[in-house]
Amino acid sequence: MLNFEFCNPVHLVFGKNVVARLAELLPPEIRIMMLYGGGSIKKNGAYDQTMAALQERDVIEFGGIEPNPHYETCMRAVDIIRRENVGFLVAVGGGSVIDAAKFIAVAALFPRSKDPWDILSATVPPTAALPLGCILTLPATGSEMNCNAVISRLSSREKLAFGNPLVYPKFAIIDPQFSFTLPERQTANGIVDAMIHVFEQYLTYPAAAPLQDYMAEGILKTLIATGPYVMEHPHDYDARANVCWCSTMALNGLIACGVPQDWATHMLGHELTALYQLDHARTLAIVLPALWRYQRRNKAEKLLRYGREVWGIEHDQPDEAIEATIAATEKFFHRLKVPTHLADYRINAEEAATEIRRRFADRGTVLGENNDIGADAAYEIIRRC
Ligand code: NZQ
Ligand code: ZN
Repeated sequence: MLNFEFCNPVHLVFGKNVVARLAELLPPEIRIMMLYGGGSIKKNGAYDQTMAALQERDVIEFGGIEPNPHYETCMRAVDIIRRENVGFLVAVGGGSVIDAAKFIAVAALFPRSKDPWDILSATVPPTAALPLGCILTLPATGSEMNCNAVISRLSSREKLAFGNPLVYPKFAIIDPQFSFTLPERQTANGIVDAMIHVFEQYLTYPAAAPLQDYMAEGILKTLIATGPYVMEHPHDYDARANVCWCSTMALNGLIACGVPQDWATHMLGHELTALYQLDHARTLAIVLPALWRYQRRNKAEKLLRYGREVWGIEHDQPDEAIEATIAATEKFFHRLKVPTHLADYRINAEEAATEIRRRFADRGTVLGENNDIGADAAYEIIRRC
């Protein structure tokens, strides 16, 4: 097992009608900015419940945060925060709103002489952040219980990530009932995203870490058993609750302890979103099978274990077992109506691969658990998508 440190400071409040706890979780006498997206929270009760819990408090609203949140929008919030002396951020929505709040939290306190985009593009570490909390309405990203954020910049067609312990939410409120109103597409996206978070931390090479493997497989099996059911039964509380808990557990740092991590599927997927505006999870479902086939030798042991433990796949020929495992995963994504090829979106794979190779070469990007996915490997993988 690799060395590790684990500290997740997020106070999680999970269950039915728990937004009522919001006021107690906030520090007293502080001006709050409540951030949200395009308005879904006004249809599922999250907005009303949040405002009811905050009725005695000094609150400014900031709505209109886009899916794949824009740097430009975040900077508008930063201007207001600086002007209005806001002291705490409450994000109400999916991963995009929570990620935006995390970036806004550090950008607002970044030295004014510098460009906060450097936090993302030049990995300049932020030194201070406004405190933030969140109310989750879309189980998918795990952003509610981690310290990562992904921001897109329209002007340069880039989508870049940063992570810093300063932006762990002080609290995360998860009421699975808010996810009842998710459109089928977002429910499916969330399940696929959470599964691929698990794969990024589990499907690398063996690290003598059986507990982490069993935890990862437990999350995958629960999502595989519950995912199609929840698509058919969107108002089943327990099914929604299990999807919520799986997606939080998939990316709160626990299953990453002591194991190698990949994240190449995500980084390649972010390029596809930046270039073609595809939903985050949909890019991952496209990249993952091609990446696994490309990396099948390096990942062979874990692909065989995953196939056996999760799908019950046994074959005399390891190559056949690996192919059957990848095919089973693709079939599951298709069952959730999530396509797995660029052609399904009428995107030319050769063109995408060429552009991503250029970007990786310019930035000197190297990815994967073995640091062996550079510009040329990225080209090969995307070309096969
Ligand atoms: O904007 P509103 O009106 O709220 O609508 C949203 C949005 O259109 C809607 N929605 C959210 N909750 C709903 C709902 N609709 C009905 N009922 C509800 N209860 O769903 C749409 C998508 O929302 P979004 O927040 O964009 O989705 P998601 O949670 O999948 O977040 C995606 C973003 O998170 C980043 C992605 O790259 C992407 O930018 N990620 C963040 C990570 C992290 N911080 O750790 C890790 C992930 O790998 C990912 O990269
Ligand atoms: Zn993801």
